[in-house]
Amino acid sequence: MAAAKTEIAGVSLACYVFNASGVNDSTFEELEAIANSASPAIMMKSCTPEPRKGNDKPRYSMLPYGSIQCMGLPNLGCKEYIRFASKLKKYKKPIIASIAGFCPGDYKIMCEAFQKSDADLIEVNLSCPNIEGKSQIAYDTSLAEDILAEIWKIGKKPIGLKLPPYYDYANQEDMAELIKRFNVSFITCINSIGNALAINPETETTMLKPKKGFGGLCGDYIKPIALGNIRNFYELLDKEKNKVSIIGVGGIKSGSDAFEFLLAGADAVQVGTAFEREGPSCFKRINKELECILGKKGYKGVQEAKGGLKYL
Ligand SMILES: Cc1cc2nc3c(=O)[nH]c(=O)nc-3n(C[C@H](O)[C@H](O)[C@H](O)COP(=O)(O)O)c2cc1C
Repeated sequence: MAAAKTEIAGVSLACYVFNASGVNDSTFEELEAIANSASPAIMMKSCTPEPRKGNDKPRYSMLPYGSIQCMGLPNLGCKEYIRFASKLKKYKKPIIASIAGFCPGDYKIMCEAFQKSDADLIEVNLSCPNIEGKSQIAYDTSLAEDILAEIWKIGKKPIGLKLPPYYDYANQEDMAELIKRFNVSFITCINSIGNALAINPETETTMLKPKKGFGGLCGDYIKPIALGNIRNFYELLDKEKNKVSIIGVGGIKSGSDAFEFLLAGADAVQVGTAFEREGPSCFKRINKELECILGKKGYKGVQEAKGGLKYL
C-alpha cells in the first residue's frame, strides 16, 4: 500500500488526515484520545488569552449533510493549552496550537507564549464566524495585516493562517499577497461558512440559540467551496508552492474526499464533522482508504499526486 506520509512547513506527519480545530479537542482527555488515535498530529481548540464559556446552548446541531455551529470559542484559555502541549509531548506527534483573538495585541501575547511552548506549529485563526458583533478578521485585509505585522517576527515555530471561504477571486488574491509578504508558512482552508441558518419546521424555531440561530455551516455542504479555495490558493501561491503548505478542511469523511483535496493541491487535510459523527476511529479509516486509492492508482505517495488535477 502507498504510504501517505507528508509534511507541513517542514514538520513531518506520518499520514495525511488529522483533526480540525474545535471538534472534541478542548479538554486534555479529548486531546489524549486524539493522541491515541491514528491522527498523525494533535490539533488543539482555538484559544483566547483568557478562558471563555462561549455562546448559550443549543449551539451545535447535526444536519442531514453536515452540521451547523455557533460555539463562540468556548475554551480553557491560552495558559491551559500551553500546559496541555507539554503533557502531550510524550506522544511524539506534532502538536498544533490554534489562537483566536479579538485585537492584534491578543494575537501577539498568545503567539509569544506558544513560541516558547512545546507546540510545533501555530495556526492563527482569522476566521471565526460566530462572535456576536464581530466580523471574520480575514475579510478585513488591513486588520489581518496589522495582526501579521505583530506576530511574524516572533520566534521560529512555523505560523499558519486558518482562513474563511473566499467567493471572490479578488479577495482571495489580496490574501495571497499578504501570505507572500509575511512569509506565512502554511494556510488552512476553510473554516465553517458563516451566517447559515437552520430551521426546525416542527417547532417553527431556529435550531441554534445564539445569534438568532445563525451559525457556521460544516460538512458535506461545504466541500466544493473548500476545494475551490484550495485550488485557487495552490495557483495563486504558485512560486511559493514549496514554501507555503496548504491544509484542506471542509466536508472530508472518506479517503476519496481526501484524494480530491490532494489533487487540488493540499499537503494534508483535517476532519471536523466526520470526527464528531464517528469518533477517533475516523482517522485510521480515512487514512487507510486514501492509501488504498493511491496504491490502486499506482502513486508511490502523496507527493506524486499532489496538485495533479487534470482539466477537461
Ligand atoms: C463544533 C465546532 C467547533 C469549531 N471550532 C473551531 C475553532 O475553535 N477554531 C477553528 O479554527 N475552527 C473551528 N471549527 C471549524 C473546523 O475546524 C472546520 O474548519 C470546519 O468544521 C469544516 O470542517 P468539517 O466540514 O470537516 O467539519 C469548528 C467546527 C465545529 C463543527
